[in-house]
Amino acid sequence: MISKPPGVEDIYPDRIPLWDKIVNTARTVFNLYHYKELITPVMEFTELFARGLGDESDIVSKEMFTFGDRGGRSLTLRPEGTASVVRAYIENGEYNRLSSAKFFYFGPMFRAERPQKGRLRQFNQFGAELFGSGDPYYDYEIMAMCSDIAEKTGIGEYTLKLNSIGCPDCRKAYIEDLKSYYISKIDELCEDCRRRLEKNTLRLLDCKKTSCADLKRGAPLIGNYLCDGCRLHHDAVKRYCTSGGISFEEDQYLVRGLDYYTRTTFEFVSAGLGGQNAFAAGGRYDNLVEQFGGKATPAVGFAAGIERMMLLLAGTPDDGAGLDYYIVHAGGESLSKAVRLVSQIRAKGFSVEIEPDAGGFKAQMKKANREKAARTIIIGEDETALDNVTIKEMSGGGQETVGLEQFLRSLRDDRIK
Ligand code: HAM
Repeated sequence: MISKPPGVEDIYPDRIPLWDKIVNTARTVFNLYHYKELITPVMEFTELFARGLGDESDIVSKEMFTFGDRGGRSLTLRPEGTASVVRAYIENGEYNRLSSAKFFYFGPMFRAERPQKGRLRQFNQFGAELFGSGDPYYDYEIMAMCSDIAEKTGIGEYTLKLNSIGCPDCRKAYIEDLKSYYISKIDELCEDCRRRLEKNTLRLLDCKKTSCADLKRGAPLIGNYLCDGCRLHHDAVKRYCTSGGISFEEDQYLVRGLDYYTRTTFEFVSAGLGGQNAFAAGGRYDNLVEQFGGKATPAVGFAAGIERMMLLLAGTPDDGAGLDYYIVHAGGESLSKAVRLVSQIRAKGFSVEIEPDAGGFKAQMKKANREKAARTIIIGEDETALDNVTIKEMSGGGQETVGLEQFLRSLRDDRIK
């Protein structure tokens, strides 16, 4: 037997209701905020990610699935969605001309990480990106949208961690001081951090190794280095969150693993996830559009991991999986009537199941229970002869025999419009 490669998952039907709940909720919320869906390809030229995410980032330096095409160009399976959305935004002049554009997306992402719970090599994200405004209101809007999705899907305990990593100007002095601090502690750093110290100093704040995590408590804080513009922006983001009822925790060590961020960075974390504790994250990236060759355009966005949200929601009751009707029949003429009835019921927008060879009444009732049918429709020999149906409420309710036409009239036909 050929098994699946490490770090990828099959999502079997029993997990699909949860999947649908997350995806449908996200789509509903995106529509409420007037974002428009954008679908981008799963592969891009490698250069897009190398330039956008940063050569020194973990993703670019060691986690990309990269291969050559027949013309000798280097392609990469997208490790995240933002770079592609920015490319598509620039490439389509029409959107690029609008004063602001709001997109959302769903899709698989690929990172050659060491697989563990909540960390996959192929995983699915949904996300949103807003272009054209540097106003702190939109940093809030992006976080509010993510928080609405978390609330509506029923993710219980979570925390929004918020930080500002400033702009390239004010960050420069911070990084210098951070580097000096870590150089003075170089003997206590792990091997990875020693290697990253020179070119990717900020990432040291993100190291999960106990010795490095302890060291960061003495490190300089970015909040003391923000320029006036960045400080005012950050204060305004926090004020908007408070006005909008979004609670947050400031975390001055929240630096994120991608190079494109400016000012706001945030993560939605939940203790239920263990080591990989963020189920959604994002921030502002005011320089990326220009860096990719577009005109200078501020932008902000977030992405959430669907599999991580599914882990958090795995224990919650699933209310969407049951059938509306299950038809119990007696074969022969009764089965012919039942087949016609099935198509009429589906045309009215109700879900219904029938099995031609499911056995006797008892076996069919058992099936109806297993399929979590709300009602069964019994078409026995008597019902067939008299053009009736017997409707049985499965949750302890009684049953009633009515004319077939009367039953059909009682079904509202606007169910799925
Ligand atoms: P990210 O933090 O790399 O940000 O990923 C966002 C979310 O994707 C994470 O919070 C997590 O839920 C999920 N995720 C990431 N890696 C894995 C993995 N290996 N296995 C399972 N789930 C994973 C971004 O991707 C940015 N593009 C977010 C953004 C959008 N920033 C601005 N706009």
